[in-house]
Amino acid sequence: MTERQLEGKVALITGGASGIGACTARLFCSEGAKVVITDIQDELGRALCDELGPAASYIHCDVTVEEDVGRAVDYAVQKFGNLDIMFNSAGITGSSKRRIVDNDKSDFERVLAVNLVGPFVCTKHAAHVMLPAGRGCIVNMASTAAVVAGIAPHAYACSKHGVVGLTRNAAAELGRHGIRVNCVSAATVATPLATGFMGMSAEELEAGLLAWGSLKGVAALKAEDVARAVLFLVSDDGRFLSGHNLVVDGGLTAVNPNFDFFKVES
Ligand SMILES: NC(=O)c1ccc[n+]([C@@H]2O[C@H](COP(=O)([O-])OP(=O)(O)OC[C@H]3O[C@@H](n4cnc5c(N)ncnc54)[C@H](O)[C@@H]3O)[C@@H](O)[C@H]2O)c1
Repeated sequence: MTERQLEGKVALITGGASGIGACTARLFCSEGAKVVITDIQDELGRALCDELGPAASYIHCDVTVEEDVGRAVDYAVQKFGNLDIMFNSAGITGSSKRRIVDNDKSDFERVLAVNLVGPFVCTKHAAHVMLPAGRGCIVNMASTAAVVAGIAPHAYACSKHGVVGLTRNAAAELGRHGIRVNCVSAATVATPLATGFMGMSAEELEAGLLAWGSLKGVAALKAEDVARAVLFLVSDDGRFLSGHNLVVDGGLTAVNPNFDFFKVES
């Protein structure tokens, strides 16, 4: 039997009841980790824990409420004895309004509160536990919206650019104490977040995605692909990675379709 990559590790996942967070919770458990799943969708989170058994536990945590975050971190330490991994997956898209003149300040602030201030507060509270231990891994969910412009609403794009900045700055500080901080910039995955935003079913969205990227022979990006990238970053395989933005997009953002030298051959 091959050795499991997260044997003996304790992970906390925000937004863990759905989509990429839920998929990562399943993968982490299968790799031997104890996982605290947190979310605001309590029923979904508890159902996932029932599925995963005693290696998983759920606690409500709204990442915009600092007391919730502190309580969730304390809960992980109390329940499983430590906190080795913090995966900040909770996120929202906000309004789909395109034109900046139509955008509401309140929606912009809400998106930043969840997508950027959330990971900041989560990083802060994870650091409280990881600093005395002198080790730990924090992974934030960014997006290809932080890599190229013009593919998402302003609030979402700004929040994810901020996540990359937070990741790099936190890595600069916390790396001195043995704590690695990285982020993942995924392209579109047909989770409830993306299907809700696009107003289409997962099948319709995935069919559309196949027409985009420059990588043939691979079906649309799946939550499992993103979860595996997160696993790589937090496992020993990623032991020299910090301050890194791992782009998981099949080469999509590496190519400028206006100057595609290879297009004629395909
Ligand atoms: N799906 C994509 O196409 C895609 C692409 C790139 C990045 N991302 C990012 O990945 C992350 C996960 O998204 P997903 O696609 O799995 O979406 P999802 O909607 O399936 O999961 C997000 C989870 O976050 C939770 N959440 C929302 N607000 C919260 C709050 N205030 N406190 C705690 N939890 C909260 C939701 O309840 C939900 O369970 C997000 O940060 C998203 O921006 C998604």
